[in-house]
Amino acid sequence: MDLVVQDTPEAVAECAAQHVASRVLALPSAHLGLATGATPRGVYQRLTNAHQRGMLPLSEVRYFMLDEYVGIDTKEPTSFQNVLRRELLSPVGAEPHSLEILDGNAADLSAEADRFEEALRSSGGIDLQILGIGTNGHIGFNEPGSSFTSRTRMVELHEETVQSNSRYFDSPEVVPRKALSQGLATIFEARSILLLATGDSKARAISSMVEGPTSPSNPASILQRHPDVTVIMDAAAASRLRSAQSAISKVSA
Ligand code: GLP
Repeated sequence: MDLVVQDTPEAVAECAAQHVASRVLALPSAHLGLATGATPRGVYQRLTNAHQRGMLPLSEVRYFMLDEYVGIDTKEPTSFQNVLRRELLSPVGAEPHSLEILDGNAADLSAEADRFEEALRSSGGIDLQILGIGTNGHIGFNEPGSSFTSRTRMVELHEETVQSNSRYFDSPEVVPRKALSQGLATIFEARSILLLATGDSKARAISSMVEGPTSPSNPASILQRHPDVTVIMDAAAASRLRSAQSAISKVSA
């Protein structure tokens, strides 16, 4: 794992945007897996700006959703599909079909999960998967206890996740309790992974992911086994890492 510690969330976004842009410039037809949530927002803004300044061609890029709530109208601002279209795809003029969606309103969610897996497989897979992390160590919506062999499927959200994500809704009561999520094995197949974390609330999850035991009770720890993972975090998110000091010196070297 390549650990990069930046002073501020803005510096995290800048560094991460450069990381993504360099991959896309090297491979203009890159397949990008997209997380939602607050953490990657600044990255999408910077990618949009670079595109609009003519410095980042994105017309050949194909995008894949990481997760989506079940039963949420895609017109709702909290729908992950809506977020991705609003924050990145529309501003860069991406064709609607360039996003492989997870349809949380499908009549048969299991068939929808299988369809997504097949679309992923037949496309050749994801070149760069962007991830955030939950306060309980989830990636996508793979909550503690998720199998390392899990594929895309319908999952139940843990109470901590419902409470944490309620900041995006009017109240905790209206947060969907179910979601479709790429599985841990699905995420692991991405050729390269970029995980972002900012703020104190992620410090425990980051230290468990990097330095804890690799175990389904600690879902993000599967990334310790992946050959190409970059974690870009701010000092607050890195504050519980025993290896944080060496990571900081690596950045400033
Ligand atoms: C959510 C999503 C994840 C996201 C994570 C962190 O529950 N399922 O895909 O990465 O939690 O979100 P945020 O960046 O808003 O803290």
